[in-house]
Amino acid sequence: MWVAADGTVVTIRPIRAEDLALEQEFVNGLSAHTGYQRLMSARRPSLEELVRFTDIDHERELAIVLSDDWQARGLGTKLLMSLVVAARSHGVRRLVGMTLSENRGMLALGRKLGFVRATDPRSATITNLTLDLAGGDTRQMTRPDDPATQA
Ligand SMILES: CC(C)(COP(=O)(O)OP(=O)(O)OC[C@H]1O[C@@H](n2cnc3c(N)ncnc32)[C@H](O)[C@@H]1OP(=O)(O)O)[C@@H](O)C(=O)NCCC(=O)NCCS
Repeated sequence: MWVAADGTVVTIRPIRAEDLALEQEFVNGLSAHTGYQRLMSARRPSLEELVRFTDIDHERELAIVLSDDWQARGLGTKLLMSLVVAARSHGVRRLVGMTLSENRGMLALGRKLGFVRATDPRSATITNLTLDLAGGDTRQMTRPDDPATQA
C-alpha cells in the first residue's frame, strides 16, 4: 500500500495470470510514447506477449511501465524500491536492466536508487543499468521485450 501526494491510495501486488484483461486495457490506454519506451519499439504487444507479461515466473521477471497519468508522481520510485527490497530479501545479488538512452525518467529513477549506468557496447541508443545487492544468488533483470529477461 502506498499513498500518492494527492492522497490516492495505491495497492502494490505481483501481477497474476488472471490480470490479462486488465493488462490489455492498460496497454491499450498507453500513449505511443510510453509504449515505445517500454518495448523500445513502436509496435503494440501481441496477445501472446500479454499472456507472457501476466503469467510470469515471479522468481526473476519484472518490467516497469506506468500509465501516462501516473508518471513522474513517485510511483516508479516506490515500485522499484519495493522490487529492490524483495530481490535483496530473496538473495538476489545483482539487478541488471536496460533502457533507451533517451529515457530520462528511467535513467533518473535508476540513478536515484543507486543503479550504475553504462552505454551498451552494441548500441549507444541503449543504456544498461546495474545495481549490486549484498549476498544471495545471481538472478537478473534483463530485456524489456522478453519477460524471461525483463527490466
Ligand atoms: C520510467 C518510469 C517507470 C519512472 O517512474 P515515475 O513514477 O515516472 O518516476 P518517479 O516519479 O518515481 O521519479 C523518479 C525520479 O526521476 C525523475 N523523473 C521522472 N520522470 C522524469 C523525466 N521524464 N525526466 C527527467 N527526470 C524524471 C523524478 O524527478 C525523480 O527524481 P527526484 O525524486 O530526484 O525528483 C515511468 O515514468 C514510466 O513508466 N515510463 C514509461 C515506460 C518506461 O519508460 N518504462 C521503463 C522502461 S526501461
